Amino acid sequence: MPLPDTLLQRLAAIVGEEHVLTDPDLRAGYETDWTRRYRGSTPAVVRPASTREVAAVLQLCHEFGAPVVPQGGNTGLVGGGVPRNRELVLSLRRLDGVTDLDAASGEVTAGAGVTLAALQEAVRAQGWNFGVDLASRDSATIGGMVATNAGGIRVLRYGGMRQQVLGIEAVLPDGAVVSRMPGLLKDNSGYDLAQLLAGSEGTLAVITAVRLKLVPQQPHRAVALLAVENIAGALRVVSAVRRALTSLEAAEVFFLEGLELVCRHAGLAPPFPAAHPCYLLLECAAQSDESAALAGVLANAPGIRDSALATDRPGRERLWAYRERHTESISAEGIPHKLDVTLPLNRLPEFERRVRGTIAAINAGARPILFGHASDGNLHVNILGLAPDDDRPDDAVLRLVAELGGSISAEHGIGIAKMPWLHLTRSTADREAMRAIKLALDPAGILNPGVVIPPA
Ligand code: MLT
Ligand code: ZN
Repeated sequence: MPLPDTLLQRLAAIVGEEHVLTDPDLRAGYETDWTRRYRGSTPAVVRPASTREVAAVLQLCHEFGAPVVPQGGNTGLVGGGVPRNRELVLSLRRLDGVTDLDAASGEVTAGAGVTLAALQEAVRAQGWNFGVDLASRDSATIGGMVATNAGGIRVLRYGGMRQQVLGIEAVLPDGAVVSRMPGLLKDNSGYDLAQLLAGSEGTLAVITAVRLKLVPQQPHRAVALLAVENIAGALRVVSAVRRALTSLEAAEVFFLEGLELVCRHAGLAPPFPAAHPCYLLLECAAQSDESAALAGVLANAPGIRDSALATDRPGRERLWAYRERHTESISAEGIPHKLDVTLPLNRLPEFERRVRGTIAAINAGARPILFGHASDGNLHVNILGLAPDDDRPDDAVLRLVAELGGSISAEHGIGIAKMPWLHLTRSTADREAMRAIKLALDPAGILNPGVVIPPA
């Protein structure tokens, strides 16, 4: 149904005509997600610049019953941030202020549209750092990262986005503003709206700003890339390092198939003279140089077939590239089905052993490429060579995850991509409670409809 002209005119009166994008060329970048698997069309992209404007836009959309898809940096991987049924896109990118950095307590306020890289730069200049980091740091925005409870490469040490949030400002679907931004470490005064909205994927409210806690900057970093036999071997090494060094910050895993793909697409030489089945990347960060301590633990760890260690920035970046360039290299090869799953650590080796066979039994032409965050039990199962609508391998993999006691989404969220399988790992009572929360906050159902909660 076309939008009434009066709605578009009134939106333009709130945000300015140049910030209501109706030109197809200008809309295009907001209509397709990063994976290129999820796309739709929108009558207009609305780009407010302040919480007041977001509130006015939502109040108006509520009045007209016009559904809205909130969008940050559009780096989501489960189709939850792009229009599906001609919803308006509400882009938060212009809310890009980093303010009220309290250098004494280590807290900062970030607008929803601040990119992770911009936040990192701002807080590092004051001797602090931000606890979450991920490869899409130049585009991913803080509002979107809170809304999806993004994880990334440092969850092991600092937790995911949820753990960084001390306060939140958000606009409810009817335009009411809720704000808890005092940045108190302790605040037991009723329901915790910040934690409710973290991971709600834009279905309950539109996050406009967050108060974040910071972590100390660790000037000395050491990165080790290790070749091991399999994921069980990788986990044994991670366990040994975790027990010996509190500075362990990242423990990432990938396999030969992914390494070969990355080397081909990124033009990188292989890290070691021989090929190995499995690779583990470790990063330690501390106030003093821990590379000797790390090397000492690794020298006594079992099953390491080859290794490389770097402490200088170019050397560290060279080793990280083998892991961080997986996503882009896979995408350069085709449009993957992306399954982001967690397993209890003690079931991860069994999952990894069975998952390739599970996929091959359904489609012999499918190419699984696995990588992920070893210490979090989080593997990204990417499958190339499938038709976009062939969900049979997805179904089989997610059922295997459920059988082994895992979760069908570790850090990417449910979006629209995983909704059909939510019942595998969330009970009927869980899902009904989620629906009741959705109905309480968004009775008209205008906010990101069809995401997380299936339509009634
Ligand atoms: C990653 O760990 O690199 C991200 O979750 C992105 C991805 O899974 O492709
Ligand atoms: Zn990841």
